[in-house]
Amino acid sequence: MQLRTGELPLLRTLVQQLAGVHLDDSKGYLIESRLGPIAQRIGCANFNELYFKLRYDADPKLAQEVVDAITTHETNWFRDGAPFDAFQFKVAPESFDARGRLGTPKKLRIWSAACSTGQEPYGIAMVLCDMIPDIATWDVQILGTDISKSSLETAEKGVYSTHDVGRTQRPQAMQKYFDQTPEGARVKPAVRKLVTFRQLNLMDSLTGIGPFDIVFLRNVLIYFDQATKLKLLQRVRSTLMPHGWLFVGSTENLNDAGPEWVPQTHCRAIVYQPNLPVRV
Ligand SMILES: C[S@@+](CC[C@H](N)C(=O)[O-])C[C@H]1O[C@@H](n2cnc3c(N)ncnc32)[C@H](O)[C@@H]1O
Repeated sequence: MQLRTGELPLLRTLVQQLAGVHLDDSKGYLIESRLGPIAQRIGCANFNELYFKLRYDADPKLAQEVVDAITTHETNWFRDGAPFDAFQFKVAPESFDARGRLGTPKKLRIWSAACSTGQEPYGIAMVLCDMIPDIATWDVQILGTDISKSSLETAEKGVYSTHDVGRTQRPQAMQKYFDQTPEGARVKPAVRKLVTFRQLNLMDSLTGIGPFDIVFLRNVLIYFDQATKLKLLQRVRSTLMPHGWLFVGSTENLNDAGPEWVPQTHCRAIVYQPNLPVRV
């Protein structure tokens, strides 16, 4: 199905309202390739009809299907490598130290916002299992959230194809933390126990989320326009503890986010901390 004159702005506004995702003029092909099949299946003759169905039929299932289709869920195990080294050798140890100073040693709260199909939060859990052999006795929780229901269903199942598990920067971890089953490679219970998933649209209120020691907000900011990105960063900041850390994707940066974030380079990855006011 092809977009007709005037349909791109309609669908663009709707997608922005549903998911915060900004589709510029060059992204018409995404609407055609991802939403066209949905429109055809439900009997719409054109995108205008799909727009009016979404806007006025109040069909949450259809809205969810559109969100799942228009968002990009590309991810892989230990994506980009370096951030997971920085997490293992700098960010996690320092976070545990900070927790010790606060009188809550062995406690850590991590948020993988926009976790897609689960590889990121499970990867974080695998690193922690490597670092702390008796982690089951520690109070460590990793929350994975995403707007996409279908991605979260895959994440919760925790079963991946051999091809998917092969796309990794840490092959040793893959051998150690999966059980082979007829369905595919299943994340081991010790890793799964550390991770919980829940659906969350990052455009919605973050009240009740956190506080976190570490937030992974990777490869999702790129889909938002500048104003949406800056507002989100402010809200994410309010979920972080004062000693907290923020990871963004390696093609993303907070250069335009003002002085609120302090960049640091560890293990060739850039990680951010909130810029705290200096007191005398
Ligand atoms: C490219 S994936 C990134 C996955 C993982 N963080 C990584 O870096 O590999 C982007 C994810 O952001 C999610 N997403 C897009 N808009 C969102 C929103 N408004 N709220 C929550 N998640 C969103 C998508 O559903 C998708 O799973």
